[in-house]
Amino acid sequence: MIWLGAAAAILIVCFGGVLLFGAPYLPTLTPQVKAALELADLKPGQTMLELGCGDGRVLVAAARAGLNVVGYELNPLLAFVAWARTRRYRKQVKVIWGDFWRAEWPPAEAVFTFLLSRYMKKLDRKCARYPHKPLRLVSFAFQVPGKKPAAARRGVYLYIYGQDVRTLTTH
Ligand SMILES: C[S@@+](CC[C@H](N)C(=O)[O-])C[C@H]1O[C@@H](n2cnc3c(N)ncnc32)[C@H](O)[C@@H]1O
Repeated sequence: MIWLGAAAAILIVCFGGVLLFGAPYLPTLTPQVKAALELADLKPGQTMLELGCGDGRVLVAAARAGLNVVGYELNPLLAFVAWARTRRYRKQVKVIWGDFWRAEWPPAEAVFTFLLSRYMKKLDRKCARYPHKPLRLVSFAFQVPGKKPAAARRGVYLYIYGQDVRTLTTH
C-alpha cells in the first residue's frame, strides 16, 4: 500500500510538476508527426530540436529520416522513456532532461514543439533571438499569435526565422 502511494506521488510530481513550467504531456499522432517532418523539410544530417520530447516518438521518426535530433524533456519519467526508446539511434539522438526555456539551444535548422497557446509568444521571441538562422519552427496545434504561418498541414504550422529560400505550399 505504501508503495502504491509512493508510486502515485511520483507520478503526480513528475506529470503535475511540469505544469508549472509548460505544457502537459500529450503525444503527437502519427499523421501529425509525418506532417511535422515534411514541414521541417530537412536533409539527412541536419539537426532538429524538440522542445518537450515526451515519450520520444518524434525523435524516433526524425532519426529514422536520417536527422540528428536533440530532445528536451522536463518530466524525468518521460525523459527516461525517450532516452531508452532512442538508444538504437544513439549516434543521432540526444535526450536532455531539463527545461528548454533555460537551455542554450545548440545549432539546428528546425525546432518542433507541441506546447500550449500561452507559450507561443514566448517561443516566438526565443526563436527570433536564436543566433543560428534560418530556423524553421514547426508547431503542432498552436499558432504564433499575430503571425501568418509560412505553411500548414494537418494542424501543424510552419514559421521561418531568417532568410530561407525554400517555399512550401499551404494545404
Ligand atoms: C504536449 S506534450 C508533447 C510531447 C511530444 N513533443 C510529442 O509531440 O509527442 C509536451 C511535452 O513537453 C514537456 N515540457 C513542458 N514544458 C517543458 C519545459 N519547460 N522543458 C522541457 N519539457 C517540457 C512535457 O513534459 C510534455 O512531455
